[in-house]
Amino acid sequence: MGPESQKKNHNNTGRKQTQEARNIGVIFKFSEVLYDRKGAETACAENEQRFRALTEHASDGVVIYGSSGRIEYTSPATSRILGYSEGEILQSDPIQITHPDDLPNLLPMLNELQQTPGSTITTEYRMRHKDGSWRWIESNVSNFSKIAGIDGLVFNFRDITERKQAEETLRVSENRFRLATKATNDVIWEWNAKTHKLLWTENAQVVFGYLPEEVGPEEKWWDEHIHPDDRERIVSKMDSLIAGNESIWSEEYRFRRRDDSYAYISDRGYIERDASGEAIRMVGAMSDISERKQADKQVKLQLQRMSALSEIDRAISSSLDMRLSLDILLSEVLSQLDVDAASILLLNESNLTLEYLTGKGFRALSIRQSRIRLGEGHTGQVGLERKTLHIPNLLEAREQFGRADLLKHEEFRDYFGVPLVAKGMLKGVLEIFHRSSLDPDLEWVSYLETLCGQAAIAIDNAQLFEGMQKSNLELMAAYDATIVGWSHAMDLRDKETEDHTQRVTELTLKIAEKMGISQQKQVQIRRGALLHDIGKLGVPDQILLKRGKLSEEELAIMRQHPAHAFEMLSSIAYLRPALDIPYCHHEKWDGSGYPRGLKGEQIPLAARIFAVVDVWDALTSDRPYRPAWTKDKTLAFIKEQSGRHFDPGVVDVFLELISYSGAKPA
Ligand code: C2E
Ligand code: SIN
Ligand code: SIN
Ligand code: FE
Ligand code: FE
Repeated sequence: MGPESQKKNHNNTGRKQTQEARNIGVIFKFSEVLYDRKGAETACAENEQRFRALTEHASDGVVIYGSSGRIEYTSPATSRILGYSEGEILQSDPIQITHPDDLPNLLPMLNELQQTPGSTITTEYRMRHKDGSWRWIESNVSNFSKIAGIDGLVFNFRDITERKQAEETLRVSENRFRLATKATNDVIWEWNAKTHKLLWTENAQVVFGYLPEEVGPEEKWWDEHIHPDDRERIVSKMDSLIAGNESIWSEEYRFRRRDDSYAYISDRGYIERDASGEAIRMVGAMSDISERKQADKQVKLQLQRMSALSEIDRAISSSLDMRLSLDILLSEVLSQLDVDAASILLLNESNLTLEYLTGKGFRALSIRQSRIRLGEGHTGQVGLERKTLHIPNLLEAREQFGRADLLKHEEFRDYFGVPLVAKGMLKGVLEIFHRSSLDPDLEWVSYLETLCGQAAIAIDNAQLFEGMQKSNLELMAAYDATIVGWSHAMDLRDKETEDHTQRVTELTLKIAEKMGISQQKQVQIRRGALLHDIGKLGVPDQILLKRGKLSEEELAIMRQHPAHAFEMLSSIAYLRPALDIPYCHHEKWDGSGYPRGLKGEQIPLAARIFAVVDVWDALTSDRPYRPAWTKDKTLAFIKEQSGRHFDPGVVDVFLELISYSGAKPA
């Protein structure tokens, strides 16, 4: 805001000039008085009165220091400022009550001033008050000898001790502030509401890459570096904050780095206001939370993928089992077409063989041995040529038909072979056998072909489904790997608990194994442990990262995290069996836990195991709200809580394991 501050400066200069003009006015009137004193017969009592009225009520002191080295005049304010009576001042040697450290600077200035009539200087020095204290004085000293004929210097001064002290306090606190900013990774900024200037700490270089001279002092620089999508929102929030009466600024937005990438920052500040509520200045800190935001985004993406997976899952479980549907279809063939037996041979694409899949109406088992190469015998021809074949007299065609075993036991006479084709691909062959002659009409044949068409579709679906299952298995393996990444992302958000997830997962599995829990269940336990605090994603940062005790309301929000986990995970079929830990890890053996207040063995075993491990790891780690406990103290606590918070059986196994691993001193 360049123009604004220029205007302000201009005003300041203006004010200064007015003040000087006023002083000069005072002096002129005063000089008239002096002439009177110097013996002019026409004593101008009126002038004197006017002068006294002016100086008496002025807050600035006025003193005239004659070239004789005497004080020739002192105004009433001088006595108020320095505590001496008018008489005492007129008698005093001002040099005696000026601070000796300030004289070496002051005296040469005054000497020079005496040589240059008409000029004025402004200077600061200390004078001793009558009560013995040193007072800081700011003085405008003028040599009016040429203009007004005064033989000496006119001091126009005021007490600036308090201002000096304030400045000193500010200087000390600024130093402290500067030191403090060296110890943080935050960019500290200060905004002056009067000058509209922004100051930034050097950390702007570390965090955003800007050199000190590139960091603009104008507000606009800040505006311009906010991501275009965030700018309007943030700037208008800032404007209304300044105009309103709130004091706290807390926003998250993207801020452009020197390399043109954007950092996600959390910007927190505090506005100082004057008595009328007008903003004076604002101080704040920007911290780079890009990593955490990235982690949040990652977690959300994973959740979406998990949901997609659950869709596939649903499709799969509602899909028909191929064998079952083909069996039903064959029953239909026997009853509707009134034939003795029927079978389906499936094309094995890897060796181009038609292989028995299912059959109905056969007396012996030899049909199950059917393995016919494509093109071999009558059946092989049906497959190869994809043409329906009718053999009215199997006995005659016996040689070429092959499958002697089958014919020997079954006494078949009539045969139909129909190719099963779906989407232009051969899937297999459907065969019909009858022990007497068939006399099929057109309708019969067309129904047979319809059923064969359905069979082909059923096979095709089943094969697709199989492929899906296979790729689903691959997906699952991929998802298991991503759950690990997901849990890392959560630890990242909750910085203090970094690696907590990995540790509790390992220890929980050790206990589970020692307790003889099956491999299959261990897989679910592993997923559950990795995801145990996924529900904390629903807990706001101010609560999750709070350095100190949580209030009742905050605790209530925090305690929703197992329920959040349930909501998030229960819709994902693949993770449903892993829900025990995320949902129940804060239940307690005696029923005093949450969210459901389950008791004893109502609590899933996995969660009972996990509870011990989670508290063990939480207590032996630093938390934002308390330092780590020692291992001894924590073990004592866990023993004490056995049968209250924890399942005693689990505590026993835990203690055994911990002493094995040497964590417990002998
Ligand atoms: P967390 O810090 O990982 O703690 C997990 C569990 O360990 C706690 O579940 C509690 O059973 C046990 N625990 C942790 N620290 C202490 C402790 O100092 N003393 C005792 N006796 N037990 C402890 P809980 O209490 O249900 O808390 C769940 C989560 O809520 C905590 O996870 C933490 O993230 C948060 N939380 C709880 N109390 C506070 C608090 O006073 N301040 C803050 N900032 N967060 C808290
Ligand atoms: C402002 O320009 O008004 C505030 C500056 C900041 O948030 O960095
Ligand atoms: C954590 O994992 O950070 C704390 C344990 C919990 O609240 O479940
Ligand atoms: Fe938890
Ligand atoms: Fe935990």
